[in-house]
Amino acid sequence: MHAIGIDIGGTKIAGALVSESGEILAEDREPTPAGSPTDIVELVVGMIDRLSAGQQVVAAGVAAAGFVDAAQSTVYYAPNINWRNEQLQRHISDRVSLPITIDNDANAAGWAEYRFGAGRDLTDMTMLTIGTGVGGAIVTGGALFRGGFGAGAELGHLRVVPDGLPCGCGARGCIEQYGSGRALLRMANEIADVGGIGLALAEARAANGVLTGPIVAAHIASGDAGAVHALQELGRWLGQACASLSAVLDPQAFVFGGGVAIAGDLLLDPIREAYLTHLPARGYHPEPAFLVAELQNDAGVVGAADLARIHAAGR
Ligand code: BGC
Ligand code: NA
Ligand code: ZN
Repeated sequence: MHAIGIDIGGTKIAGALVSESGEILAEDREPTPAGSPTDIVELVVGMIDRLSAGQQVVAAGVAAAGFVDAAQSTVYYAPNINWRNEQLQRHISDRVSLPITIDNDANAAGWAEYRFGAGRDLTDMTMLTIGTGVGGAIVTGGALFRGGFGAGAELGHLRVVPDGLPCGCGARGCIEQYGSGRALLRMANEIADVGGIGLALAEARAANGVLTGPIVAAHIASGDAGAVHALQELGRWLGQACASLSAVLDPQAFVFGGGVAIAGDLLLDPIREAYLTHLPARGYHPEPAFLVAELQNDAGVVGAADLARIHAAGR
């Protein structure tokens, strides 16, 4: 039977009707309401209703960009959305008849890549999603790792700089502040400030008022030296973090998703280089693969649907 997957991100909410083999049969997409958590619930309920109308649906999975509890019902905290101990499962369940499961958005994306995408031939993979924040998913021995309280695999909050930049999680120096889409924008602005290779970025900023993700992405795509430099800096931070993660998780592959990963080798090359430089037991440790996610923007909804189906079967 089909399942519904919903992916609530900092900027958009995506929904899909997904088959057992991970195929998307129908989809929907709306900007994330900026106001209260109630507006998000409203929108999600509407999406679930529309996508399930007239269909045989077993469950709905909701992927959320925050720390999710072990019961898969509450978002303890979200660095980039206004959720504090948000009882998302109950608020949605009150209004729809399907079984509802909440999952972390990156866990959902990582699960989809493991089942149907870049990790389908592996048993151990680590995923990093590079968007507004940095999300993490760990598949180990073929199972999704959640930790003792549900909120494990929050890899974006791995500290890479002691007392570094403040993070939305309340701590400082998290990789999210050095390896996310937002960090890329900050670095691009810094390069634009200096001039030199940042001249084209500075001109684009002056013409548009501010630099945006799409503007920086377009400059990367056209090979602009300043924008590529910013991306390489991002890659060096991520590569260092992966070296530490290898010491803990030893995955067969690191998979990169989210908007920024579309840059492909331009991002993967500096990641791999920094990884090899910082890898413990360097030269004597098998080298994992560095891959771009295959399901791209669909990973969250496909994974959320699959995890909800598994959860419903076990109930
Ligand atoms: C949040 C994670 C989320 C990631 C990507 C981070 O700031 O802590 O829960 O997976 O952003 O959305
Ligand atoms: Na996660
Ligand atoms: Zn943090």
